[in-house]
Amino acid sequence: MKKQRNIILYIGTSIDGYIANDDGTLEWLESTEVEGDSGYHSLLERIDTVVMGKGTYDVVRGFDMDYLYRDYKNYVFSKSVSGSDEYASFIDEDVKTFIKKIKQEPGKDIWLIGGGNLAREFFKDNLIDEFQLAIAPIVIGKGISLYNGDVITVKYTLTKVEKLGQLAMLHYIKK
Ligand SMILES: NC(=O)c1ccc[n+]([C@@H]2O[C@H](COP(=O)([O-])OP(=O)(O)OC[C@H]3O[C@@H](n4cnc5c(N)ncnc54)[C@H](OP(=O)(O)O)[C@@H]3O)[C@@H](O)[C@H]2O)c1
Repeated sequence: MKKQRNIILYIGTSIDGYIANDDGTLEWLESTEVEGDSGYHSLLERIDTVVMGKGTYDVVRGFDMDYLYRDYKNYVFSKSVSGSDEYASFIDEDVKTFIKKIKQEPGKDIWLIGGGNLAREFFKDNLIDEFQLAIAPIVIGKGISLYNGDVITVKYTLTKVEKLGQLAMLHYIKK
């Protein structure tokens, strides 16, 4: 039987659920002491496609290094940009319809990189098959939240809990 492609949200937050400071920086996450590579390489081996919001794409494009996800098919949700550029196809379609479509195409799993704005649409429509949450040991009080938005309830099953140095890695699957 053909394996269903999973949508994996693999993302780092503060204890209080922020993915970055208001200005987009996340020094507190980058400087967290981690044991091993926090599952990053095994994630990359499982995927052939990444999905992100335009906010995240702009941040990644701004890094002073080769574009990180050049080996993967890149879909960037945006209402302000259309078509494609050298790395990504820009998508302005209903999220649920688009994800249903690409899950039916042959391929490996799909990494939803973020950010909060786009991830909330995935939570709302219950589109996340696997949720791997890396929690840094810090409360920052304010920033870009992974969760704030509409009132939603999405339930997951906890499958694994890891202590990777100072990072708490929680593994959930869709219930
Ligand atoms: N901690 C982590 O692991 C992690 C991971 C990823 C990102 N981040 C951080 O998160 C921040 C960005 O997150 P964010 O929440 O501000 O932005 P985001 O979700 O990455 O992008 C938001 C943008 O995506 C587009 N978008 C969202 N929903 C859409 C839809 N349904 N249809 C079409 N376009 C849609 C819109 O782009 P347009 O304005 O072009 O229409 C929107 O302004 C960055 O600072 C990044 O560093 C952190």
